[in-house]
Amino acid sequence: MKPLASLVSVEDYRRRARSNLPRILFDYIDGGSYDEVTLTRNVEAFRQAVLTQRVMVDVGQTDSRVTLFGQTMAAPLLCAPVGFAGMYARRGEVQAARAARKADLPFCLSTVGICSLEEVTEGAGTPPWFQLYMIRDRDGMARLLHRARDAGCPVLVLTADLQTPGKRYASVRSGMMRQLSFLEHVARLWDGATSPGWVWNVHLRGRPHAFGNLDGLLPEAADFATAWEWIGANFDPTVSWNDLEFIRQHWDRPIVLKGVMAPEDARLCVERGVDGLVVSNHGGRQLDGGQASLHALPDCLDAVGGRIPVLMDGGVRSGLDVLKAYNAGAAATLIGRPWAYALGAGGEPAVTQLLESMKAELRTAQVLSATHTLDRHMDGQDISP
Ligand code: GLV
Repeated sequence: MKPLASLVSVEDYRRRARSNLPRILFDYIDGGSYDEVTLTRNVEAFRQAVLTQRVMVDVGQTDSRVTLFGQTMAAPLLCAPVGFAGMYARRGEVQAARAARKADLPFCLSTVGICSLEEVTEGAGTPPWFQLYMIRDRDGMARLLHRARDAGCPVLVLTADLQTPGKRYASVRSGMMRQLSFLEHVARLWDGATSPGWVWNVHLRGRPHAFGNLDGLLPEAADFATAWEWIGANFDPTVSWNDLEFIRQHWDRPIVLKGVMAPEDARLCVERGVDGLVVSNHGGRQLDGGQASLHALPDCLDAVGGRIPVLMDGGVRSGLDVLKAYNAGAAATLIGRPWAYALGAGGEPAVTQLLESMKAELRTAQVLSATHTLDRHMDGQDISP
């Protein structure tokens, strides 16, 4: 196998992850919902976005650092919450969070991560941002918020667009979103056997494989399909703006609402007092047929009118894309699939390499477009409406 250093583009990491991981795991990261129209639009929107080359401007000093919610980071780039990451590499969330820390970028841990927020905090040496879904069991949610507070998580990312799971065809086919027949289970075992590195590192030495943040709500032996059934049954579709009140009772640090695509919702974020929002269609994994998130950004920015930071995700595949998102008005961008591919491709060293390479691409793009700074001076701390 070619060395890690030969992986350059996100597509390179994707291919390596596909060859390393059992099909069911690769499909879970890679797939979008239904015909993947939105997923494709997200990526295409960035391909179509145009950067303007500038010349004869002194670009001896450029700075990619930004400060958001009181935290200064090396670039307007964060690792988005991704579920099940502890299945792509041994204790995967810890490895990725360590890489993010080394790159001086925030890592956001998913509610349905395999490693608990305490394990990630200890392993990475810094608390992650924490992502939460509204779960029917409100006492369980309150406990989780207290754990995140006690671990020192600085920001809560509330994902609002998974009231019910969108159907991801690849995950239905490969068995993440469907109970398999006996023969399919046998085929799955064979699939695992064709990924011996994964079996040794993750399946055998990466246990426990339960959702570390969900307090053993799911038994460790639960298979993926059972885990998804649990998610479908326990994520709360009755969630409304009034539930923010409940979260506020248990969380006094910044709340960033993720999953905003409509300007009405962006305006409500400001009116309801959230501290930031992420324009996001969940990486094209939920409602298929909607706009690319890059294209939804301008109207959401207008609705917000500079009162809170507006982040975005969906389709970001390079440092150049980070600059395109900045040019479109984003305070920062999040990447999900890229770091998950890298984790599956080669664990922490691969995630480190990817993040450093995206930062370098961003710096190059800044220089060639004479974009001296990227900080919108909206740290989310003292923005008056
Ligand atoms: C979870 O948030 C997922 O998109 O699978």
